[in-house]
Amino acid sequence: MNAVDIISDYVRFPSVSTDPAFSQGMAGAREFAAKLLADAGLRVETVQTPLHPILLGRRDGPASWPHIVLYGHYDVQPADPLALWTTPPFDPQIRNGRLYGRGAADNKGPHTIGILGLASLLRRRPDLPLRVTVLLEGEEEIGSPSFPGFLGKYKGELSKADFVLLSDTGSPSAKQIVVTTGLRGIVGLELRVKGPKVDLHSGLHGGAVFNPIQALADICASLHNADGSVNIPGFYDGVLPPAQWERDELRKFPLSEAAYRKFLGVNALYSQPGFTPLEAVRYGPTLEFNGIGGGYQGEGGKTVIPSEAFAKITCRLVPGQDASRVLKKLTAALKSRIPKGITAEIIVRQGNNPYHVIPSGRPGAPKNANPVLARAFDAVGSAIATAFGKPPLFLREGGSVPIIGDIKTETGLDSLMVGLFTPDSNLHAPNENLEIEIIERGMRAYELLLEKIATP
Ligand code: BES
Ligand code: MN
Repeated sequence: MNAVDIISDYVRFPSVSTDPAFSQGMAGAREFAAKLLADAGLRVETVQTPLHPILLGRRDGPASWPHIVLYGHYDVQPADPLALWTTPPFDPQIRNGRLYGRGAADNKGPHTIGILGLASLLRRRPDLPLRVTVLLEGEEEIGSPSFPGFLGKYKGELSKADFVLLSDTGSPSAKQIVVTTGLRGIVGLELRVKGPKVDLHSGLHGGAVFNPIQALADICASLHNADGSVNIPGFYDGVLPPAQWERDELRKFPLSEAAYRKFLGVNALYSQPGFTPLEAVRYGPTLEFNGIGGGYQGEGGKTVIPSEAFAKITCRLVPGQDASRVLKKLTAALKSRIPKGITAEIIVRQGNNPYHVIPSGRPGAPKNANPVLARAFDAVGSAIATAFGKPPLFLREGGSVPIIGDIKTETGLDSLMVGLFTPDSNLHAPNENLEIEIIERGMRAYELLLEKIATP
């Protein structure tokens, strides 16, 4: 079977990790992935966790062989809203050179590309001196709650590996691949403000109580300054500004601000001081409102003072910031801004650290870096140049893969990330897809890279 068919069959399993109704889809995707690993000649272990099991596929060998960890996640985001899909999310189809389906890009396609690249290499060179641990988790899309417990048990083994290799980030197109050198961290919480014990008639009581929506709006509005920067004391402490080479690298990114504006459908971009909009996404921290609610949401009007209102808030963090410290500062700021007559509840959703690696050869690269990783950073340039026709750009990314920072702190392992989805891949959205050309070229790039790592 070819790679596109294999990925299609994988996508058929609706492995939505957030919704218990999809537990069969989770199990199906897991069994499919286990077979993929076994077919690649790996020894498969399923590690039970409190929620979704983690799959390990190992190729053992002498300690003198390089040892890489290939990471991916077999869970996907919910497919809703279903009505906006051209073809059903779990019935994958090929159109205009792309494979459509939930999980095609995030992340079943990209990690399958890595596994199939490895499998093809091992068929060609059965004696290849390379140890591999493939690690596939099923909770990435819900913030990897079981991962710290797993790491606690397996960190002895994992910390002896050389580095982590993964593809769960993006590139502008098949013509310009990006090697991702940083990920933003994320903290998330929900703020619930409460006023009167029940919804009130706004004529009978309006003027006597603080309206919870007004309180919530005041608090939310207080979280940014007029220039767009975040108004939380200490929020920017430690922020690592981009190095000159990182700004230069971004200037080679094939996207103008005008094209970006058009792509997003906005009439102006909006970013905080010190960063161009394209820089702000990759190198700057943010505070965003992801959802807000309260009061009457139905047709027509209703004269009511609602009893409560809520906002869902996340911050993206950049290297140098610490998730637990930012969470403390954000929580303290929110609490100090609750007016009299209103009480608040804060529900913390997640806290994951950012991640950053300086590739070998760039200013500031650690002198004592793991030599296998340094070799891999050198090799990835030529592997991508050969497979895709152009060398990659090395850029930090705006998205988060929550466990990559934890893996670094817990095991000392750095990550080498090859971006394989594109801006039109519609991650987390209807009509998610992956370019067929990227599937084919990506496998070749993985094969070349892994071969160079094993036999420089
Ligand atoms: N693959 C994405 C991360 C990503 C998105 C990297 C866009 C680069 C560009 C990953 O599966 C994801 O969506 N992560 C979530 C994490 C969250 C649910 C804790 C994210 O970034 O929102
Ligand atoms: Mn992903």
